[in-house]
Amino acid sequence: MEKKVHITEVVLRDANQSLIATRMPRSDFEDILETMDQAGYYSMEVWGGATFDSCLRYLDEDPWDRLRFIRSKVKNTKLQMLLRGQNILGYRHYSDDTVRAFVRKSVENGIDIIRIFDALNDPQNMATAIDECLKAGGHAQGTICYTISPIHTFESYVELGKKLESMGCNSICIKDMAGIMSPQVCYDLVKALKKEVRLPIYVHSHSTTGLGPMTLLKAIEAGADGVDTAISIFSGGTSHPSTESLVYTLNEMNIDSGVDLKVCQKINDHFKPVQARFLKEGGLNPSVLTTKIDALNYQIPGGMLSNLISQLTAVDKLDRLDEVLEETPRVREDMGYPPLVTPMSQMVGTQAVTNVLTGERYKLVSKEIKAYCRGEYGASPAPISKELMEKALGDEKPFEGRYDDTIEPEIPGAKAYLGDLAESEEDVLSYVAFPQQAEAFLKERREKKALKVTYSIQEVE
Ligand code: CO
Repeated sequence: MEKKVHITEVVLRDANQSLIATRMPRSDFEDILETMDQAGYYSMEVWGGATFDSCLRYLDEDPWDRLRFIRSKVKNTKLQMLLRGQNILGYRHYSDDTVRAFVRKSVENGIDIIRIFDALNDPQNMATAIDECLKAGGHAQGTICYTISPIHTFESYVELGKKLESMGCNSICIKDMAGIMSPQVCYDLVKALKKEVRLPIYVHSHSTTGLGPMTLLKAIEAGADGVDTAISIFSGGTSHPSTESLVYTLNEMNIDSGVDLKVCQKINDHFKPVQARFLKEGGLNPSVLTTKIDALNYQIPGGMLSNLISQLTAVDKLDRLDEVLEETPRVREDMGYPPLVTPMSQMVGTQAVTNVLTGERYKLVSKEIKAYCRGEYGASPAPISKELMEKALGDEKPFEGRYDDTIEPEIPGAKAYLGDLAESEEDVLSYVAFPQQAEAFLKERREKKALKVTYSIQEVE
């Protein structure tokens, strides 16, 4: 075949996150990992994003253990994770020592490629993670979060691409978390980046608006080196274009993806009953599977839409969804057009829900948005509106300089606090990232171990 394109299979991370709020337990995929390793994917995105939080909070799983287990079964295919730059896998800025230790441990436990992004596209927020990833011997993939706003011009994306190259990144990802990048824009953007940047270009999109499959094809036509897809039963809607459909298309175009459709069929057969169970038990809301062209106007990414639906459902106010979808872009404009990606998508979404349900804009302002207004998340892409600034901060003055420099090292204190509850540096990192969830998890683990010991003593008596 004349051309080679890399396929990254995302069922275990982003499809899992976008369709079923990252609730897939290890037992749902442990038996298929070895087969997935034979499919011919360039890489598998299996960790990072919301998987870490979800393992601790909902699944009673040690996220590090999950990663090591996957690595033990996937020996040939590169393993990939998504990292939120200075936010690592959480929702606030962490200290530099935390970011460095987390990145190093991710690589040590089996990650090959770290896709590093920042919700504001602020290179300063990606710098520490990129630097440490390279030092640890990982592949650092710098990310351009694609969004539409008056200030996100073509030139601004190319500038960011050049900046990421100068920072030492091994490749660049155009990350279209909302599925709003049109095929033609993607084609032009990939071409422009290819002209100015010498790194491989990867394209990540979602099927939310129905544009995704066409956008990926145009990306490949423009010379993109790889794209992300999800095995078909977990594709579509807020998830991604289907792996098999794209590979089938590429085969006919004489473009080699290296992916074996026969193996894909086995993988898909494995995940069919998993999907059916989530659908039956309510973990998968069928409404996220339909094409939502409104996202082109509202720019609601995959995970965000399902979150808004579940937030409103929880308070029995799903009938207010349309109002929330109208309020969302207004909140975003007030915040200076942050791309709607974690944690900005949660901050914007929750504030929009609050504004609608209280009946008064910014009557209540979340502590995260107050921190954002103080500058704790880095530079907002455009200035924050006066109305929001006043409601959020009152007379308080915003922060100047690099906020992260003011964060004290977090690991020594965490180590001291946990004592022998932490059995490894990974445990300490889990605690720094998610204190409450990790502490509860570690305590429970210790109790279970104690029970085991008692039991085995009874056994020999
Ligand atoms: Co995504």
